[in-house]
Amino acid sequence: MTDNGAHQSRRQTVAMETLTYKRYPFSYFPTGWYYVARSKELRPGKLVGQQWCGVHIVAWRNEEGKVCVADAYCPHLGARMTPEAGGRVVDGRLKCPFHGFEYDVSGACMHTPNAPPPRTCELVTYPTCERNDVVFAYHGGEPKFELPFIDDEGWTLRIWGKKTFNTHIQEIPENALDLNHFQFVHGVNEVEETGTPEVNGQHFYTAIDTRGRLNLPFARHLQFDSHVDFHMWGLGYFFFETTSPDTGVETRSWLFGVPQRDALLTLNYAVAVRENPSQRLQVLKWLPTQWRTLLVCKLVHMETSLTLEQDREIWNSKRFRASPRLANTDGSILAYRRYCQQFNAPI
Ligand code: FES
Ligand SMILES: [Fe+2]
Repeated sequence: MTDNGAHQSRRQTVAMETLTYKRYPFSYFPTGWYYVARSKELRPGKLVGQQWCGVHIVAWRNEEGKVCVADAYCPHLGARMTPEAGGRVVDGRLKCPFHGFEYDVSGACMHTPNAPPPRTCELVTYPTCERNDVVFAYHGGEPKFELPFIDDEGWTLRIWGKKTFNTHIQEIPENALDLNHFQFVHGVNEVEETGTPEVNGQHFYTAIDTRGRLNLPFARHLQFDSHVDFHMWGLGYFFFETTSPDTGVETRSWLFGVPQRDALLTLNYAVAVRENPSQRLQVLKWLPTQWRTLLVCKLVHMETSLTLEQDREIWNSKRFRASPRLANTDGSILAYRRYCQQFNAPI
């Protein structure tokens, strides 16, 4: 074959690969609980609409405080009932902008303007729960597990953030367990898993010890040891607690990923802090306690945001290796992937 012919054949192979290539060999929408909104966003009368696990949903709360999360398309003739499309909540019921059918929080059609509600007219609804001021809905039929209530006595209020990435939700916790990337992507050079992961049904737990620097430009000289406990309850609820004996500050971080459509992932994240009263953060000990913890919480939030940005390009462009060629210091990536398999939905 001539050089030209070989080149053309390589180009054809690449083109075929591009056409047939699937970035992930499993669905972008694993089963489990996913963030819908913060509880205070869903005040009675307010309607929220969004893309969520490959569908459009609406969510609202009636006067009694009951929440409904439902498919956004009307069972009558298919109008979208999100707020931008004209959907609204009237007397605790969702009212369709097309012909005025009204649905209660059970999903039943309770009223139409000109005739009795058709007997089979009801919304497709999703199981919901509220935990620590967040509303979740379950994707994938009947819930197979419950989410935890986290005791937040003594902690600051959570500070929230939101980012979008072009990746699969499974990549986010995997990144936190990928010990060797901390050195190259985040500048944390001593990271060690303290045991083997514990999997109990839908709960995943592991812990690591780290020694590293902050990303914040004015605090790069600070170096300290931390112990991090990781918890997951499915892929939509990722939570970790960090304790640092050097600073006396404990932090909590929540990452609530929501796959919107294909690889478009929204990451809602929140942080909270608590100080060890016998060991005030020395550099800020002159501040009143309330201000100091709030300031520390804001700094932790900035640090979290910077850390997520450092991962952005790799998440956005990487390919999933189903059979990765791992080194023996790569941590619990395979144990984590085995845990994830239980949430895989058919493609
Ligand atoms: S499409 Fe909703 S009431 Fe007709
Ligand atoms: Fe990372």
